[in-house]
Amino acid sequence: DWTADSFVDITVAELKAQLGDDKVVLGLSGGVDSSVAAVLIHKAIGKNLYCIFVDNGLLRKNEFEDVLDSYKNLGLNVKGVDAKEQFYTALAGLSDPEAKRKAIGKVFIDVFDQESHLIEDVKWLGQGTIYPDIIESVSVSGGPSQTIKSHHNVGGLPDYMKLKIVEPLKTLFKDEVRLVGKTLEIPQFILGRHPFPGPGLGIRILGDVTAEKVQILQEVDHIFINGLKNKGFYDNVWQAGAMLLPIQSVGVMGDERTYERVVALRAVSSVDGMTADWCHLPYEFLAEISNEIINKVKGVNRVVYDISSKPPATIEWE
Ligand code: XMP
Repeated sequence: DWTADSFVDITVAELKAQLGDDKVVLGLSGGVDSSVAAVLIHKAIGKNLYCIFVDNGLLRKNEFEDVLDSYKNLGLNVKGVDAKEQFYTALAGLSDPEAKRKAIGKVFIDVFDQESHLIEDVKWLGQGTIYPDIIESVSVSGGPSQTIKSHHNVGGLPDYMKLKIVEPLKTLFKDEVRLVGKTLEIPQFILGRHPFPGPGLGIRILGDVTAEKVQILQEVDHIFINGLKNKGFYDNVWQAGAMLLPIQSVGVMGDERTYERVVALRAVSSVDGMTADWCHLPYEFLAEISNEIINKVKGVNRVVYDISSKPPATIEWE
């Protein structure tokens, strides 16, 4: 029978045999999969695992600092790279969702490649690929969004990086990855987090992305996610977030008319992201969150809640 303990023992032994004294580079995303893969490889080869965590400027509020700290606490040999400006420059003026995904993917590969060249004699690329990633990337019936949107988690290796690939989680499903993570004593802060798309807030800002819009959306998202956590809803929601819409609406503040931004909140329940239902969050909770957002986030005067299920809607709006 499969157990997380025996998986860890066997995999660590295999990784030691496979990697010997070789160096491995791995890109951490802050997500469950890359984190578990890193801790597993680190257990096998220690400091010969070089982790890179890129700040693409499209992460949640405080995410880069918080996640980097917890990686360091796990003992990982990790380098945080601030590449915000490179991403914003590449995104300037782009509104098409696929063009934005491509731009973000390209800068990520450039930054990652540049950083891995700084690691002398690195031989391997570590990846947190799990079994469903492999299925989805080859499947023709994987659902429209999987083929329409260019997910760049798989096969993102540029040709000029002649690294061998090590993917210790590639036989596991998500729930098994979480069990392995628990055995490895990775904190719940990392293991229990919702999925978050690689292009991050870049595809939750509809239309073109600017640093100012990122900052507004980070504040909105922070209020919503914190609210879910404080009220104990977070763990029962599969994924949640906010979208910054490319429209303004009329509002009133005191005697003044305002003309400001609209945000949409989305929370869904799902098993694997392929289908999803909108969460029936209590009205009182939505009312509190909406008030807090409008009172605290300058530039936002209207909040709406997304009540669409997937299909036909997707989870993300882009
Ligand atoms: P959709 O919007 O297709 O999302 O219903 C399904 C799941 O995939 C995530 N997603 C992405 N993840 N790169 C990623 O790494 C992407 O371009 C991307 N687009 C969507 C989405 O957050 C949800 O969990």
